[in-house]
Amino acid sequence: MKANEIRRRFLQYFQGDGHEAVSSGSLIPANDPTLFFTNAGMVPFKDVFTGREKRDYSRAVSVQKCLRVSGKHNDLENVGHTARHHTLFEMLGNFSFGDYFKEHAIHMAWRFLTEDLGIDKDRLWVTVFEDDDEAHALWAKVPGVDPSKIQRLGEKDNFWSMGDTGPCGPCSEIFFDHGPEHGEEGGPATESDRYVEIWNLVFMQFDRSADGTKNPLPRPSIDTGMGLERVAAVMQGVYNNYDTDIFQELMGKAAQIAGVT
Ligand code: SER
Repeated sequence: MKANEIRRRFLQYFQGDGHEAVSSGSLIPANDPTLFFTNAGMVPFKDVFTGREKRDYSRAVSVQKCLRVSGKHNDLENVGHTARHHTLFEMLGNFSFGDYFKEHAIHMAWRFLTEDLGIDKDRLWVTVFEDDDEAHALWAKVPGVDPSKIQRLGEKDNFWSMGDTGPCGPCSEIFFDHGPEHGEEGGPATESDRYVEIWNLVFMQFDRSADGTKNPLPRPSIDTGMGLERVAAVMQGVYNNYDTDIFQELMGKAAQIAGVT
């Protein structure tokens, strides 16, 4: 399945669940002195999460261009060293602004991956924040989820914040197992590159202020992000994102022009 089709299906799936399709915002965030670049799909919605801005919808879906070359989410040092990091990439995201919360977000994500995209459920693993018993219990009751493939990880992996300040909360990540040729058994907790995080579900509950205080958000919300390039690799049966159609067509053309095919 080509990347264009994945984008299309993602938008259609969430629009069918009452989400407003919102175009990608600028890579330079408007009115946000805390960021150089848009580094996540939730950035254009930051003020909606905190309640400072009101919109006439409470669910949104987007495919946001992101740049992770500075600040808290800086992937620059990983580019070229892993099969899955980029400077510029696209993030598929669904958002709830005080509408649904953990249970619906989990249900929708699992159904999209296993039914719409048809990914083999036995190759998926899930992580939750170490003391998030609620998320653990919700995942454990999803039909098809093997409870032994739900792992608890700490703040470094499973507590998401946009920057030093702003909306944040515990998160739950979905990983794809690329198979034994890429590393040891044991799931994402091993930190093996065999398990690639494809989707992050953030349970936005706080607004962190400059002194580090976590103030409860007016309404708990959902912010999810799935890397288009990573899910394209899964759908195209390749390990390296650069082997997907997103890059291969460009690289093939460049090689042809350079006369090195
Ligand atoms: N904001 C989260 C992330 O960037 C989920 O979209 O991973």
